[in-house]
Amino acid sequence: MENVRILLVDDEDDFRRTLAKRLTKRGMNTKQAASGEECLKIMEKDPVDVVVLDVKMPGMNGIETLHHIKKRHPETEVIMLTGHATTHDGVEGIKTGAFDYLTKPIELEHLLGKIGQVHEKLVMEKEKQKEAKFRAKMEQQMIATERLAALGTLAAGVAHEINNPLAIIKESAGWMKSILNREELANMPRKPDFEMALEKIEKGVKRAKRITLQLLGSVKQTHSTISVVNIKELVNETVALLQREAGNKDVEIVQEIDPAIVSIWTDPYKLRQILINIITNAVHASRSGDRITVALKPVDDRVAIKIKDTGQGIPGENLKKIFEPFFSTKPPGKGTGLGLFVTRSLMDKLGGEISVESRLGEGTTFCITLPRYADEEDTSKKDKTSIQSEG
Ligand SMILES: Nc1ncnc2c1ncn2[C@@H]1O[C@H](COP(=O)(O)OP(=O)(O)OP(=O)(O)O)[C@@H](O)[C@H]1O
Ligand SMILES: [Mg+2]
Repeated sequence: MENVRILLVDDEDDFRRTLAKRLTKRGMNTKQAASGEECLKIMEKDPVDVVVLDVKMPGMNGIETLHHIKKRHPETEVIMLTGHATTHDGVEGIKTGAFDYLTKPIELEHLLGKIGQVHEKLVMEKEKQKEAKFRAKMEQQMIATERLAALGTLAAGVAHEINNPLAIIKESAGWMKSILNREELANMPRKPDFEMALEKIEKGVKRAKRITLQLLGSVKQTHSTISVVNIKELVNETVALLQREAGNKDVEIVQEIDPAIVSIWTDPYKLRQILINIITNAVHASRSGDRITVALKPVDDRVAIKIKDTGQGIPGENLKKIFEPFFSTKPPGKGTGLGLFVTRSLMDKLGGEISVESRLGEGTTFCITLPRYADEEDTSKKDKTSIQSEG
């Protein structure tokens, strides 16, 4: 209660000073004013929590002062002090918004009791505000996550529908190509133009296929395969898969594997796709001579995999967007912008968490943690992504 800021307002100097002294002695932060006007002036500069206000004062009386206080500082509580003969002023005060009233001569303990009640009310209100803020934030987060999930489902549906016409286009292009290769068409006019057009069709189909595959991977898994996974081997294999692409760019991938972890229960296909997506991004962001470290270690009852690169880093304004579907900074045709979106939804499925830290120009670290025992049903909608920018 010591941090409650009190303002004593009374024109009787002796009474006010004595009371102030006794409150201060109890450790309270107490200010004084000899009139309503002075009270308002002080509050203008320095807000207080409680005003202990005499009703009978020359000039602006207590009730008038109370009106002004409630109008300008609605969060401040007022305790009125009335004479024996004028308790109706106290009642009037309460109607105007005073917290309570006390009748003079007052007992210090009574006043302290009232101040204590005001303090409790203030604490409760602060808690309520904090809770409301927290709830609003959570709701916003839920809306964002649900929106992403809905988008993912929709996108996967579209992807599925597009797969059939894509197959038809691909097959027809292949058929036309084989016809063009026949002897009798060897001298067909503008044959190279046709061939080039067919090439373009095949390239386009390949790209569209990549998109649909990623999308379908994010939502529909043909078979669930939770099993005992030798995680060290899985990381080894995945790194080996990407070693060549990295080597072409003169980028080194090193592994730091804590021997304490041997195996976990998870879905190896999902985990491999997650690792491929993150490490591939790291390779893309690396420059010649950069290094990618894949570290694996136990953290409590989970395992943490850190993929750290010394590449170009992610600008702060992009960091919030990298998990959104179709967000990509890569040139058209190079990135679908689905890699991390899919990664996040797969992490959700495995009951894992993913976080990212990045420093522009210095590098990026993705950290994923997985339970040692994945529960395939764990599709909780909690947003488990955390993002930190340092540059
Ligand atoms: N390690 C990293 N370093 C720098 N930027 C990164 C890194 N990882 C992701 N990003 C940024 O996040 C964006 C989104 O990544 P995401 O994997 O979702 O899509 P993408 O790599 O562009 O395309 P794809 O669908 O082919 O993976 C990237 O375009 C890139 O800007
Ligand atoms: Mg990617």
